[in-house]
Amino acid sequence: MIAAAGSGQRLGAGGPKAFVELAGRSLLEWSLDAFRAAITVTEIVVAAPPDQDEAVTSQGIVAVAGGENRSESVANALALCGEELVAVHDAARPLVTPELIDAIVEELAADENAAAVIAATPVTDTIKQVGDQGQVERTLDRSGLWAVQTPQVFRADALRAALADPHSLPEASDDAMLVERQGGRVVVHSTSPDNIKVTTPFDLRVAELLLRERG
Ligand code: CTP
Ligand code: MG
Repeated sequence: MIAAAGSGQRLGAGGPKAFVELAGRSLLEWSLDAFRAAITVTEIVVAAPPDQDEAVTSQGIVAVAGGENRSESVANALALCGEELVAVHDAARPLVTPELIDAIVEELAADENAAAVIAATPVTDTIKQVGDQGQVERTLDRSGLWAVQTPQVFRADALRAALADPHSLPEASDDAMLVERQGGRVVVHSTSPDNIKVTTPFDLRVAELLLRERG
């Protein structure tokens, strides 16, 4: 399922981010291409921005209305999902590849103790905790820190249980966090850092360069 229902405030393109064009197609289309080509993917559901269902269904893809926040959008899409494993992906990551999707799905399928396997890359910057006056409070030990991406692949039951409490949804910046909180084992799958998230106009330029380089 692809979360594409955000409004793209920080990109500031004047419309939903998923439909912003990048190297000849929309952000959403880049992700759809990867999901269509992945051999482990049997069905695709997109959580679409308000009044944009048509733009998705016209491509032969099932659309659901997005929610107030990201996790609500994922919950709406999950309601239509009949599979045992589900891959959750942000339309904001157009550099995802079919190989990455398949590798993560296969890793979860092979690890019966895991509730989820998630794309992530080790942090390379030094990370500091900073207080509200700009003062550094502490420096985190970088050796165990990973920057998390999507796709995130879940056992559908574990994700359903994690998304069941509506109060916890607004604060979740990813779905794995909600599964972790319920004691589910979440495992990282090390990816290339080029699976970037498009948040700002700068990210859009970088993503465009990377996609053009792929040809
Ligand atoms: N998303 C969603 N439903 C929401 C909010 C976000 O499906 N109610 C999706 C976005 O479409 C995006 C992903 O979640 O693919 C990650 O969110 P983010 O990068 O924050 O996108 P936006 O919310 O669109 O951007 P912004 O926060 O700058 O408005
Ligand atoms: Mg957002």
